Amino acid sequence: MIDPYKKFKNWYTKASIEFNGDHTAFALGTCDNNSQPHIRMVLLKKILNDGFVFFTNLNSKKGNHFKINKKLSMCFYWENINRQIRILGNGSILDSEQSDNYFSSRPRGSQIGAWASKQSKEIKSRKELRDKIKYYEKKFKNTSIPRPIYWSGIKIKPIEFEFWKQGEFRIHSREQYFLKKNNWTVRFLSP
Ligand SMILES: Cc1cc2nc3c(=O)[nH]c(=O)nc-3n(C[C@H](O)[C@H](O)[C@H](O)COP(=O)(O)O)c2cc1C
Repeated sequence: MIDPYKKFKNWYTKASIEFNGDHTAFALGTCDNNSQPHIRMVLLKKILNDGFVFFTNLNSKKGNHFKINKKLSMCFYWENINRQIRILGNGSILDSEQSDNYFSSRPRGSQIGAWASKQSKEIKSRKELRDKIKYYEKKFKNTSIPRPIYWSGIKIKPIEFEFWKQGEFRIHSREQYFLKKNNWTVRFLSP
């Protein structure tokens, strides 16, 4: 059976061993309501049977794009192993139990940061942020820190994968997996 998840996992494992950077980092694409694409790096934190999970602030710019448009794109590039993976998919909010579990596994400083940072909103100064951090450190002193309601995992369920491997003289290999009547199908693309 054609299974792009299996291929993804093979390449991802190879990258985890051989890539000389953070193999979990990928460019996440969202679209605003003027059809303007936006990209930024995030980290892949979970691979599920039916999707890929990153965590973020749902009130951030990307979070607000996601509220109006569930279509998301991902791109990994592992330069020293000459590979790129592109994924198109649909996003959904991860269930709260899984987000709670991941949040509680994070270092305390990151948990405080999730409360203190109103991600993507303008701040007057770094001091304003430092003061907020102090405020939440005091507030949560000697207690466990709950997950902010606006901080969550987003699962991207793929509808298309492309595996790109660099070839000599730009004769790269490109394998595209797409869904045809709910079955994964593969085709090869010209570089
Ligand atoms: C390598 C790298 C990994 C990052 N990982 C995350 C992440 O997992 N989640 C996140 O919200 N932001 C992450 N960021 C920050 C984002 O790139 C971005 O600055 C932030 O999420 C705000 O984006 P937005 O204004 O488009 O919402 C990461 C940045 C870098 C450079």
